[in-house]
Order: sequence, then C-alpha cells, then structure tokens
Amino acid sequence: MFPTTALVSLCLLAVAYGQQIGTQLAETHPVLTSQTCTAGGTCTTAQTSVVLDSNWRWTHQTTSTTNCYTGNTWNAALCPDPATCAANCAIDGADYAGTYGITTSGDALTIKFVTGANIGSRVYLMADDSNYKLFSLLNQEFTFTVDMSHLGCGLNGALYFTEMDADGGLAKFPTNKAGAKYGTGYCDAQANVLNWTASPTDINSGTGMFGTCCNEMDIWEANLNAAAFTPHTCSVVGQTQCSGIDCGDGDQRYDGVCDKDGCDFNSYRMGVKNFLGPGLTVDTNLPITVVTQFITNNNSSSGTLTEIRRIYVQNGKVIQNSNTNVPGITPPVNSVTDAFCNAQKAAVGDTNSFESRGGLATMGAAIQKGMVLAMSLWDDDEADMLWLDSNYPLNASVTAPGVARGPCSATSGDPSTVQSTQPNAFVVFSNIKTGPIGSTFSVTGGGTTTSVTGTSTSSSTGSAPTGGSIPEFSQCGGTGWTGSGTCIAGTTCVVLNPFFFQCLVQ
Ligand SMILES: *[C@@H]1O[C@H](CO)[C@@H](O)[C@H](O)[C@H]1NC(C)=O
Ligand SMILES: *[C@@H]1O[C@H](CO)[C@@H](O)[C@H](O)[C@H]1NC(C)=O
Ligand SMILES: *[C@@H]1O[C@H](CO)[C@@H](O)[C@H](O)[C@H]1NC(C)=O
Ligand SMILES: *[C@@H]1O[C@H](CO)[C@@H](O)[C@H](O)[C@H]1NC(C)=O
Repeated sequence: MFPTTALVSLCLLAVAYGQQIGTQLAETHPVLTSQTCTAGGTCTTAQTSVVLDSNWRWTHQTTSTTNCYTGNTWNAALCPDPATCAANCAIDGADYAGTYGITTSGDALTIKFVTGANIGSRVYLMADDSNYKLFSLLNQEFTFTVDMSHLGCGLNGALYFTEMDADGGLAKFPTNKAGAKYGTGYCDAQANVLNWTASPTDINSGTGMFGTCCNEMDIWEANLNAAAFTPHTCSVVGQTQCSGIDCGDGDQRYDGVCDKDGCDFNSYRMGVKNFLGPGLTVDTNLPITVVTQFITNNNSSSGTLTEIRRIYVQNGKVIQNSNTNVPGITPPVNSVTDAFCNAQKAAVGDTNSFESRGGLATMGAAIQKGMVLAMSLWDDDEADMLWLDSNYPLNASVTAPGVARGPCSATSGDPSTVQSTQPNAFVVFSNIKTGPIGSTFSVTGGGTTTSVTGTSTSSSTGSAPTGGSIPEFSQCGGTGWTGSGTCIAGTTCVVLNPFFFQCLVQ
C-alpha cells in the first residue's frame, strides 16, 4: 500500500480501545479453501475462510441500533472519546454478499467494488473461526491466481501480508472483545493515521495523530494496466501503535517508524512497458497465476531473507519476471534483493527508507514470525493510485527514471470518477497455495494445473445453459467442481481459470 486507505478512523477504536460485539447479525465467515503443498507437488486442502475487516462493519450502540458512526462522523453522544465510544458501541456481523459484494466459492474469492453504498473492502484469511492464519514463508513460495480483467485505472486489487496479531489484538488489548472473528487488529506500513479531536482533559484521547503500524509484504497491487510487488519494513516489531512523528504523516513521511514507499518492483516502472497489460506478455485480460518465492541465504526456513522472486504462469507457460531496463541498475535484475533496492532508489532518486528500516532481513524476520494474508479492492483518496498505474509524482519529468509507472492518465484515478465509471469492477483471487520452492505450480496439460489431493477431476464446460439456480458471482464449474453448471437467468457461466468458472452478466 502506498498511501493510507479509507475509513481510517474506525481502526484506532478497534485496535487500541477495543470493541464490543453486536448481536443484530450472526457472523458467518465465507469458506475459502487454500492448499499446502509438499516438495513432491502433492497439495492438501484446508477449509480456511475469510473475515471482513472491522472498519467496514456496522458500528452501533450496544443496547440499540443507533449508529455510532455515520458517513464520516461519530455520534457525539455515544462517542465523546475513544474509551467511552468503545464501551458504548458494538461492531456487528456482516452480510458479506448483500452489503459488501464479497462472495466465495471453493478456492475463489470475488470482491466487488461498488455494492449499494459500500465502496471496496478488505478481508483476511482465517485458520479457524477466531484466528487469522499465519503464513511463515521463508524458503517457501506463495502462489495464487488473479482475475483482474475487470479492474481499470485507479483501482487496486491487492493481496498482501501484514504483521497483525493472529488473534486480532484480543490478548494485547483486553478491552477488545471482538478480535479476529470480527476482523480487528489491522496494521500496515502506512500506519493508518488518525486525528482524534476529543476530550482536551484526557491525554489518551486528546487531539493528535495516532496510527497502527507494522511490517507489510505486498505480493500484488495491480489493475489491468500495472502491477507491483513491494516489501515495506518498519523499525518496530509486530502491530504497534504510533503517534505523531512516528506515524510518518504528511511532510514527515520519511521520519516515521515504517517505510511507506517500500522497495517496489513494477515492470513498467522498471522500464519494460510491454510486459504486463491487456494483450501483453502477461495478459491481464486473462487470469494470471502469480508465484512469489522467498529465498534465504542458506535454503532454510531459519535463514535470512535475501531475495524475493516473481514468476508468472499463464496459458500453460512459465513466464519469468521482466528484467529491469533502467540506467543505473546494472546488471539488469528481475527480483528484489537489497542490492536491487539500493540501486533502484539511487537510480530513480527516491529516499531509501526501505534499507534504513532494515531491508530484506527485517522483512524476513516478520515473514519467519508469521504474517496475515489480506485481500482487498480499493481506490485511492490520497494519490489517485497514480503511484501504481500513471506518472508520479505529477510535477516530475515523465522521462525521468521511475516516474512512469503505468499508462493511465493523470485524471483517471480520481475516486469519484472511478466509482462512477467502474461501479461493476471486481477482482477474483483463487487457488491460494504455499509450499517448498517449485511445489505449487506446474505447466502440464497446457493449463496452470497442479496435482491436487482428492479424487474429483471433473470439470464443467464453460458454455452451460442459463436458466438454472446458480446466482451471479457463484461458481459454476472448474477442476473438481461437481455441482451443476447452470447459471441463473441473465448470467452466463464464464471460464475464469481452469479451477474456477463463475456466473457473470456478459
Ligand atoms: C490532522 O492534523 C493535521 C495536523 O494538525 C492537519 O493538517 C490535518 O488536516 C488533520 N487531518 C484531519 C483529517 O483532520
Ligand atoms: C540453495 O539451493 C539452490 C538450488 O538448489 C542452490 O543452487 C544453492 O547453492 C543453495 N544455496 C545454499 C546456500 O545452500
Ligand atoms: C541459516 O542461517 C541463519 C542465519 O542467517 C542461521 O541462524 C540458521 O541456523 C541457518 N540454518 C541452517 C539450517 O543452516
Ligand atoms: C514536486 O513537488 C514536491 C512536493 O511539493 C516537491 O517536494 C518536489 O521537489 C517537486 N519536484 C519537482 C521535480 O519539482
């Protein structure tokens, strides 16, 4: 994540001051299976699930349905300060599909952009009903398939790891009654700064800037036109509350405890503009299998992280990441190492806050400890996503190294424009796998197939008739699918990837 995300102000409440649980709607986590593979390529399926971040949830008085928070405003009576607010207010269960446009089917998660009044969302993968799954990926690889063919300029379908507590902060913050089951405890390298202007007599709730920060490994931030993978390090360990300068807000961007810029690898920004995009070598019109490998100094899960490698698999072909083509990065490289980060920051003239916060070794320590998988779809109130898919900063020469990051126009990422022109945008993340290097993908059979435990190998056709009962965005076929292939009237069963066909309005 480059800038802060929306709805920041609820975050502090949930993390620092706790939260009650509402009883208006039972919380039921949509199941999203994931797989763990062995060196031989045999994969075991786990019944993992996803949970919606607490920031997106309905927050109301514990004893009534009166909103504690409406639009951008706290209810002054219920929420004169964070502690009182936390005692008075509860977060409730989520209607994932209806309110937020979040659906799962087998190993696939679909996140819609605009659903009623809701804009974007963020979920975390759960190991069980009350704990996030922790991923420890040193000397391992992480693989998933993404369909972002319906994500235009200004949108970001993001899949990333953050150093959140597995319990969502329950143990750390005794007043937090909700925990991971309700998606609490978010942190990232942007620190989610909040200005709370409350009781001038209470130092804990006076005006000031607070945030919640931690190490962050962005595996995928992307739309049709550009993609980046980016480690962000912090000089603090684990989910940490920051205040003031430590949050690195505004002009203090490089003075905080976390590296907000990160050490990004975006092929377009690194000088190869014809590598990833619609119809290009990595064709964003089609599902893409994305492999990320965390290489250590001694091929051990106890080693020091020295390299983050990227491989794409599409149409039965393994596609190595593009090499850099930027003066000053010599020789050209296609992975993230400390040497790459140092050369890249120098070549493009960026402040090297990644290495000064510890570089890859620090990122690796967080990965070894275990990180939480976040998946989101968002637009960007702060910088219009120009840092991902356009020229940025806008006042720099577009021919200067590192300024051009994607082909989108300078005006394309304005959130109101994005919301009005792309309300039906959505992203599908599927086929999440981890395992030893080389275990999670293969190219046999002309598809991105892998060996899968279980017996079923049936797959439906992608041209099933309509008039059935499968609703929009639900699965209608794919490897292992045994259900019917008939979508509800008005939708068609579309092949998104070999594992997942989905009912969509065409
Ligand atoms: C937060 O505080 C800073 C510094 O006092 C101020 O410039 C900024 O406008 C405030 N932001 C909000 C959202 O109130
Ligand atoms: C790690 O494994 C790779 C691939 O098998 C090998 O080339 C390399 O020499 C190994 N490195 C160490 C430090 O053992
Ligand atoms: C790998 O290297 C780390 C130091 O980077 C060391 O602590 C660890 O014991 C080593 N592990 C093995 C299996 O050699
Ligand atoms: C662009 O604007 C920023 C912020 O105002 C400033 O710090 C920077 O020096 C400017 N860069 C150029 C090349 O004018």
